[in-house]
Amino acid sequence: MEFKSISCAFDSLDLKMLKDAVKTKYKDATPLCYLHSYGCQQNVSDGEKLKGMIVKSGFSLTENEALADLIVINTCAVRENAHERVFGRLGELKHLKEKNKDLIICVCGCMVQQKHVADRIKNTYPHVSLVFGTFAYGDFYKMLYEVIVSGKRVFNIEEKQGEIAEDVLQVRSSSFKAYVSIMYGCNNFCTYCIVPYVRGRERSRSVDAIVDEVKGLVKDGYKEITLLGQNVNSYAYGFSELLRRLNDIEGDFWIRFMSSHPKDATSNLIDAIIDCDKVCSHLHLPVQSGNNDILKKMNRRYTVEKYLETVEYARRRCGDFSFSTDIIVGFPGESYEQFCDTKALLEKVKFDNVYSFVYSKREGTKAAELEDKVSVKQKGLWLRELLLMQREVTEKWLGRFVGKKLRVLTEDTGKQDGFLIGHSYENIVVEFPGDEKLIGSFVYVKITKAMNWALLGEISR
Ligand code: 5AD
Ligand code: SF4
Repeated sequence: MEFKSISCAFDSLDLKMLKDAVKTKYKDATPLCYLHSYGCQQNVSDGEKLKGMIVKSGFSLTENEALADLIVINTCAVRENAHERVFGRLGELKHLKEKNKDLIICVCGCMVQQKHVADRIKNTYPHVSLVFGTFAYGDFYKMLYEVIVSGKRVFNIEEKQGEIAEDVLQVRSSSFKAYVSIMYGCNNFCTYCIVPYVRGRERSRSVDAIVDEVKGLVKDGYKEITLLGQNVNSYAYGFSELLRRLNDIEGDFWIRFMSSHPKDATSNLIDAIIDCDKVCSHLHLPVQSGNNDILKKMNRRYTVEKYLETVEYARRRCGDFSFSTDIIVGFPGESYEQFCDTKALLEKVKFDNVYSFVYSKREGTKAAELEDKVSVKQKGLWLRELLLMQREVTEKWLGRFVGKKLRVLTEDTGKQDGFLIGHSYENIVVEFPGDEKLIGSFVYVKITKAMNWALLGEISR
């Protein structure tokens, strides 16, 4: 589905009015905003764009919530625990509001796109003044203006999808790693997942807009660009072609992307990843379950056999190709035997990294209506069993890198004193001794040891 791009859509009359209102309210002092995003990279990226709008309105950003005049909580709805954490935070914020009556508390994002959540906030958290869902970002200036000028509470959880705005200022938290959204929404309706309900249908940005953004980032010194979409393989103008276009941009940088749906991960995609030297040889391919009946109930539209074919194809073409995955433990109706099929698949594939979650019931999804006999406690025990097994698999499997030299983007200081940490081209966490000045640059690391979550090594020329 094509969506019209609108240049500087939000730099309109609304922004001018908001800027004037901010000036009047804060009497020419610069008010401060604290923003926190929960959840996935897509949400963090949305938060960076909101920060851009907030800065344009005349606020400065602060990391200290207690100093803020505006607090924005950008929420995630994928699992229950993120949900409960947000309500916990809202409870705590009541005290800040009591101390500072002028404080504006705003809750936005996936969670509040659900009506029952917005209603709960309306009724139980009167200190929250602004609530808007993922479809309402385009109205941000207007909504904040209304809160500031009228002092009334504003709720906007309209179900009408907004257009994609281009040229939006994004305040990025890193100076060398950047997220670039290539599409929004999801059409897949996996039965456990709330995302299609809270993020709407798929909308793709144009190739030219993405290429221009990446060119700008590379020019600004960014070393790693992560393309984001709920299912990047259904990017409307051809994802493999997009990778090839981005790979042609001059400069020393890497391209990563998240997430891919196994039903659409074709040999064409694997070929593009392997052919393009800037595209890292790693695929995050969420399998969710190793049992075909459960996959069917999840509406995933692939089989274990098809999944294995994709993995084998990639490994045949490139020995060091790495795979990571997501697993849901305890989908409604899943038996212990079916869960064991997932363990067997993990042993067979040998993932470099596994993100596993206990199934979380999401109101409004199809799976929420299915009978679920296994207790959450029991599911927790299954998850533990899976994690223990996977730790052993990873440690052995990462051993294949010992003695090899890997290219690593240095990201931060490591856990041990004097150590640095980063991810390799294959997306493996690597720790090595080195000077902090190297953060943000590429190094080659000779691997000396494999652990169950990362590799250890030494910088090598
Ligand atoms: N319960 C547990 N895990 C879920 N995920 C998505 N929805 C749910 C749910 N209802 C997991 C999937 C997905 C990842 C982003 O979150 O594994 O790939
Ligand atoms: Fe959710 Fe499935 Fe869409 Fe991923 S592909 S966001 S799991 S519905």
